Amino acid sequence: MSIEIVPLVENDIPDAVNCVQKAFADDPYFRWAFDDPSKFNIQRNAASLAAHFQYGINCDCPISVAKITRAANESKSDDDIRIPVGTVVGVAWWYSPQAPSMPETWSVWAQGWLLSFRQLMNNIRFLGRGGLNVHRYWIWKQVQQTAHDAIWQDPRGYYFCNVVCVASEARGMGVGKMLMDNVMDKADRENMPCYLESSKGYPNVGIYERMGFELVKEIECVDGGDVCKLYCMIRKPKSKE
Ligand SMILES: CC(C)(COP(=O)(O)OP(=O)(O)OC[C@H]1O[C@@H](n2cnc3c(N)ncnc32)[C@H](O)[C@@H]1OP(=O)(O)O)[C@@H](O)C(=O)NCCC(=O)NCCS
Repeated sequence: MSIEIVPLVENDIPDAVNCVQKAFADDPYFRWAFDDPSKFNIQRNAASLAAHFQYGINCDCPISVAKITRAANESKSDDDIRIPVGTVVGVAWWYSPQAPSMPETWSVWAQGWLLSFRQLMNNIRFLGRGGLNVHRYWIWKQVQQTAHDAIWQDPRGYYFCNVVCVASEARGMGVGKMLMDNVMDKADRENMPCYLESSKGYPNVGIYERMGFELVKEIECVDGGDVCKLYCMIRKPKSKE
């Protein structure tokens, strides 16, 4: 399978959304936050993800997609035959480092408001949050903020991997690593640390360890008897030797 890693553009947003939705369907955080499957509205969720991707593009976030490049009929493996050229098989969405001492730029602030407005319109259009347990969402936000305050020691901030996923049919072939390398190499050149959170301990913690991340903290979002564990991992910059 031949893959290229390219920056996300607006035309790719629907495919990127589709890739994320499929990859996270069994994600522990997703299942905890959307705890009633009968209320889940996949179109509302897609609209929300699309609004976030648009925000990311407008804020110049380093977001990449992995696309199949080689024509299916040129390849020999069964995997290639099933995946047409141009298909998005992976997404990596990062935030650039933001030093806590630096104020948010005016344009990022404005994009934040635009995102809120788009989400409000989505609430009206779809008559709600599409099954998101809003109480749990705010529990997660608070637990996450407390963890960042404790873990993020570097005053320059961190490259924050917000989402990374690879389509199930393309996993274990190095696509995730290619997507991550795209920003991790840049972080190494700039001598900057990276950060991510995963709600899937196995196999993700091991996969990220192979990419140079270390598990620094395990946190728990608790609502009644339901607990969602998150694995917080930091990758120190690799020295240029
Ligand atoms: C996590 C994920 C992005 C990794 O992408 P991937 O394309 O499967 O990973 P790669 O093939 O690039 O493998 C990266 C490394 O992990 C290793 N690895 C991959 N899958 C593994 C597994 N199941 N168990 C152990 N190691 C594994 C690879 O051997 C490779 O190590 P190496 O570079 O030393 O050879 C992908 O599995 C995925 O999308 N999972 C579902 C969604 C998800 O959980 N996203 C992350 C949320 S934080």
